[in-house]
Amino acid sequence: MRQSLGSYRRIVILTGAGTSAESGIATFRDADGLWAKHDISEVATPEAFARDPTKVLEFYNQRRRDVLSAEPNPAHRALARLEQELPLRCPGAEVLVVTQNVDPLHERAGTKNLIHMQGELLSAWCTACDARQAWDANMHAASPCAACAKTGTVRPDIVWFGEMPYHMQRIEDALAAADLFVSIGTSGNVYPAAGFVAGARRAGAHTIEINLEPSEGASYFHERRHGPAGMLVPEFVDQVLGSFRF
Ligand code: OAD
Repeated sequence: MRQSLGSYRRIVILTGAGTSAESGIATFRDADGLWAKHDISEVATPEAFARDPTKVLEFYNQRRRDVLSAEPNPAHRALARLEQELPLRCPGAEVLVVTQNVDPLHERAGTKNLIHMQGELLSAWCTACDARQAWDANMHAASPCAACAKTGTVRPDIVWFGEMPYHMQRIEDALAAADLFVSIGTSGNVYPAAGFVAGARRAGAHTIEINLEPSEGASYFHERRHGPAGMLVPEFVDQVLGSFRF
């Protein structure tokens, strides 16, 4: 039996690639992960895009194709249920999901209060006019921007290494107000996300890691639960919702 959880009202969930692994999306640092097959400096930096846009675009075209038909798994669905049911049991309670993932599986599962801190595969960004547009087709170096019609200025709406993640102020504010922080399916290798647990602890939050194996930062968490997210996340959500009595 798990130890019982308190009744939490401000919950921040950080998700990483392991959350989508059971939906068939490749992780980055597992033995068969993307970074075992591709060099980060050749496909995931602004310098790589400037040097060889076709190579970078083909990497993201393949990843976009991978997610088009992917389905949410029980971990995504359980987090959507937590967001919907928590306020019914505790009026005013809130769940924020901050994901490092660029796939659309949290929103497909029904999560609404969601931050894609590293961008989205199904979005394109025009660096000339700053417009963002939904994008599910292959992207080419000459793809025109639907807003300003320029070519050569559209890129994947992805935060590459060396770029600033999106919505950091909103995330920091949520961490400062959190009473529970849960990190799911992330190896804890990439900052700033790897530092969120320290921020949440400073704010007095209880912290839980849910991951297949201990992450780089496992020792920073009050509680560690190791196993597949598709099993442990629904169990965790049942536990949080069950802590409120009608
Ligand atoms: P990683 O690939 O680094 O880590 C995935 C973690 O998920 C590992 O610790 C696995 O053990 C765990 N895992 C695998 N399958 C799981 C399952 N079924 N249930 C639970 N856990 C499982 O992915 P991230 O930590 O998300 O950034 O990587 C962070 C960032 O590094 C990514 O957003 C990406 C990458 O480079 C950029 O591309 C900028």
